[in-house]
Amino acid sequence: MDEIIIEGGTPLSGEVSVSGAKNAALPMIAASILTGGKFTFRNVPVLRDIDSIERLLSDMGVAVETLGNTVHIDTADLNRFEAPYEQVRQMRASILVLGPLLARMKKARVSLPGGCAIGARPIDLHLNGLSLLGADIKLSHGYVEASAKKLKGAEIYLDLPTVTGTENLMMAAVLADGVTILRNAAREPEIAALAGMLNKMGADIKGAGSPIITICGVKKLKPVSTVVIPDRIEAGTFMVAAALTGGDILVKNCNPDHLQALIHKLEKTGAKIQVRDDGVRVKGGGRINSVDIRTLPYPGFPTDMQAQFMVLMSVANGFSVISENIFENRFIHVSELQRMGADITISGNHAMIKGVPKLSGAPVMATDLRASASLVLAGLVAKGTTRISRVYHLDRGYEALEKKFARLGATIKRVRAKA
Ligand code: UD1
Repeated sequence: MDEIIIEGGTPLSGEVSVSGAKNAALPMIAASILTGGKFTFRNVPVLRDIDSIERLLSDMGVAVETLGNTVHIDTADLNRFEAPYEQVRQMRASILVLGPLLARMKKARVSLPGGCAIGARPIDLHLNGLSLLGADIKLSHGYVEASAKKLKGAEIYLDLPTVTGTENLMMAAVLADGVTILRNAAREPEIAALAGMLNKMGADIKGAGSPIITICGVKKLKPVSTVVIPDRIEAGTFMVAAALTGGDILVKNCNPDHLQALIHKLEKTGAKIQVRDDGVRVKGGGRINSVDIRTLPYPGFPTDMQAQFMVLMSVANGFSVISENIFENRFIHVSELQRMGADITISGNHAMIKGVPKLSGAPVMATDLRASASLVLAGLVAKGTTRISRVYHLDRGYEALEKKFARLGATIKRVRAKA
């Protein structure tokens, strides 16, 4: 298993180009099974989660060819409708095939994801919505078995603005009879990106990116070529790295509109931010002010940036409170940061952070995707050597992260751990 070794303390500077967004690419690739034919996806990040969804589709008879960041998919021969436990267990987002399979094949058998490191993460809202669209849903032997003679448009109110739930229901509704209205829908940029692709395929979706999405069912869809939007979480991770190490980084190929909550908070910490035509430049170096954050659905502060921002607060001047409102268990990085000298106390969904002058390098263990990114950031600012194990979590969602940091001047390398 690979490890990442970092000698901390170097201010990072230079330019870095952000990869395509994992969380946009996954639903877009899943959407390709809505109809038979040849799709091309560009700006697809090279990641373990992308491999996972491609493998899932291949097992269903879909032809997948990856050439660097371009993926060609031919869905003409889709002949199965199952996402097995082994695959869903490794990547919860496999649930994204449920809606499109039901729409095209009229049936789907998808393993229930179960718990994960950051909480229970149920899929009840996906299933309630599909039932309202007319699907017959049974839970049996750990699987969701869904079938429908015909899906019919419906009014669906989501108790919470679930991201993959909104995506699943949007994909199920595009081929339904009549009009579907999704209320309290998630507004993440990845939702609008998926709707953009579906509309290009011939769907009729209005309001994606707002809390009310209206989907008029169509009879047929066609395959398309499309480009994945930039990864706002990767961009945000580099922006925090600049502020944290007192560096100066131009983060290219990102959409500043998608980063407003983070930009606002980083400015309050004292970082200098310049939104330019070619990217966002972040300059640190002065005193880091403590700033409170609370995670919220988009356009609020993203839960996927919480762990990274916590590292910045760990070396800030004063006290801050980070409130995690999306996932109940998303503080598992805290115990590792404490081992590096961070002064953090957890109470319920709040983390109280007292900034310390320095973190110190230590052997630490990655526990989930964003927690791993926070440990890399901590290693970059810590005094001495940090050795991060279980970096396969990082490989799920960051393309060549250590290479990108190395090009910005970090002393960072990946090694194969001894068995
Ligand atoms: C997506 C993102 C993930 C991000 C999260 C929140 C992808 C592939 N993953 O995950 O990176 O951290 O959004 O921005 O896009 N919930 C229910 N019932 C449901 C569905 C969700 O109670 O049926 C709850 C969850 O437990 C959680 C909240 O709703 O508390 C939000 O979860 P959700 O938006 O669904 O997260 P994901 O789509 O799984």
